[in-house]
Amino acid sequence: MISRLIARTLEVPLVYRVLQAPFQERKIAPCLAQLSLTPQTRLLDVGCGPGTNAHHFASTQYTGIDVNPDYIQSARRRHAGRFVTGDVTNPDMLPQEQFDVILLNSLMHHLPDEAVGLLLSQLDLRLAPGGRIHILDLILPPGASTARLLARIDRGKFARSLDSWRALFAQSLRIEQLVTFPLGLPGLPLWQMVYCIAGAE
Ligand SMILES: C[S@@+](CC[C@H](N)C(=O)[O-])C[C@H]1O[C@@H](n2cnc3c(N)ncnc32)[C@H](O)[C@@H]1O
Repeated sequence: MISRLIARTLEVPLVYRVLQAPFQERKIAPCLAQLSLTPQTRLLDVGCGPGTNAHHFASTQYTGIDVNPDYIQSARRRHAGRFVTGDVTNPDMLPQEQFDVILLNSLMHHLPDEAVGLLLSQLDLRLAPGGRIHILDLILPPGASTARLLARIDRGKFARSLDSWRALFAQSLRIEQLVTFPLGLPGLPLWQMVYCIAGAE
């Protein structure tokens, strides 16, 4: 009941944006450090939220997709680029073109294993030659802790251990790099994140 109420509240774009604000730049930083973007870069942001990261990609050919129509409306009002409403677990909803960069930032802890497997294999087919998939997601803190509770409150029922993430990615993708980094507030580390760069199988 409480978790459903929190989930509904987080679906409001402004609430989500305010709560993400302290973390969002630190979360995307390792990925930005790896990307060489040009105006020709075709970039797909899967589970883009209300355009959380879109400002970093304003000079690319950017497409964001999210299942929440309110998030997409909010993103369209505030950012350049193409924003599409769609459930990415349905292959028909994914754009039918190729991309140089496919970003999944904090999406997959919302999806069960089968949906992750299907989504990654579909995204694999949409990678342009030389393209890469960049995945950032939450590692479930071991044991009972405030960090674990907060991780659960972020609606995602499927935060996973590092080993589970690695195994899941490896089923569909050729992993090139997989690292972890801490995420939290200044002086207050909360979670570990996984960052994976992968190419087509
Ligand atoms: C934790 S938010 C991350 C949003 C954004 N990438 C960010 O970095 O702030 C997860 C996003 O995934 C979206 N999402 C969850 N399930 C989805 C699905 N099946 N298809 C498309 N988007 C989905 C949610 O609506 C939400 O915007």
